[in-house]
Amino acid sequence: MPTLTMSREFQLTDRDFEAIAGLVHDIAGIYLADSKRQLVYTRLSRRLRQLGLGSFADYIRLLEGPGRDAELGLLLNAITTNLTSFFREPHHFDHLAGELRHWLRDAARHRLRIWSSACSTGEEPYSIAMTLAREDIHKQPVDAKILATDIDTSVLDRARGATYPPDAFRGLASGEIDRFTRPVMESSAPMRRIRPEIASMVHCKRLNLVQAWPMKGPFDVIFCRNVLIYFDASTKARLIDRFCELLRDGGFLYLGHSESLMHRHPGLKPAGRTTYRRVY
Ligand SMILES: C[S@@+](CC[C@H](N)C(=O)[O-])C[C@H]1O[C@@H](n2cnc3c(N)ncnc32)[C@H](O)[C@@H]1O
Repeated sequence: MPTLTMSREFQLTDRDFEAIAGLVHDIAGIYLADSKRQLVYTRLSRRLRQLGLGSFADYIRLLEGPGRDAELGLLLNAITTNLTSFFREPHHFDHLAGELRHWLRDAARHRLRIWSSACSTGEEPYSIAMTLAREDIHKQPVDAKILATDIDTSVLDRARGATYPPDAFRGLASGEIDRFTRPVMESSAPMRRIRPEIASMVHCKRLNLVQAWPMKGPFDVIFCRNVLIYFDASTKARLIDRFCELLRDGGFLYLGHSESLMHRHPGLKPAGRTTYRRVY
């Protein structure tokens, strides 16, 4: 791949790209292959412009200098891909609903903990909360909490805001749209906000999957969807082990559509499409 210099606003040399890719990998575990040069250029050019910098080399000097921590956060926010939607890969929500019906028949069950581990702008954890609401979780003597985490602080702010354009809910029946959301105006645009009884189940926190986790678990369900694709094989394998450690016996791990486990894991039994049951 040739160095991206010709008739470009900024110069991105091989060395610059390697330095940025190295930082992103060290901090977030995200592997930026050579084919991601254009993505890096496009996503970071705006930041260079905001900072009034003349080249990627200047930007790298900034990332290595004092005050680097704040800029590294912004670098990660720019590099991460946050595509998501409500009830994306609906088979996981159907499976969860089935398991919930089963669990809620167990009178001894008073606690339900679900982790959406790369939650992006919140559509995934709120879809989980809606799935719980469909099973009338509020009428049960169950303390249900959904932990929603992501490395990207800007998407977490949007998740906390719980406000989306109306067409984000196009997959839901109109009765459910009114049941789970209410109309609001935001910057003169009609939007819909998740109702408090749904939103209050979701707790958003920043968490980098490749660093230490403060939670002890156990979780009943972990969603880790469409993020493993950004990691290399050893990072993926280590993460799957760590999810296993936090899942209770009989709990479930849901992975994204292109992330099924390549090798059998002794602690996980396949239980459907990219669905794994924790076995001890
Ligand atoms: C494509 S989105 C997936 C959203 C949702 N899980 C889904 O499937 O619709 C990937 C998310 O992973 C997050 N991410 C990337 N690297 C991460 C890391 N090291 N720790 C935590 N989150 C990370 C990104 O910020 C992004 O929001």
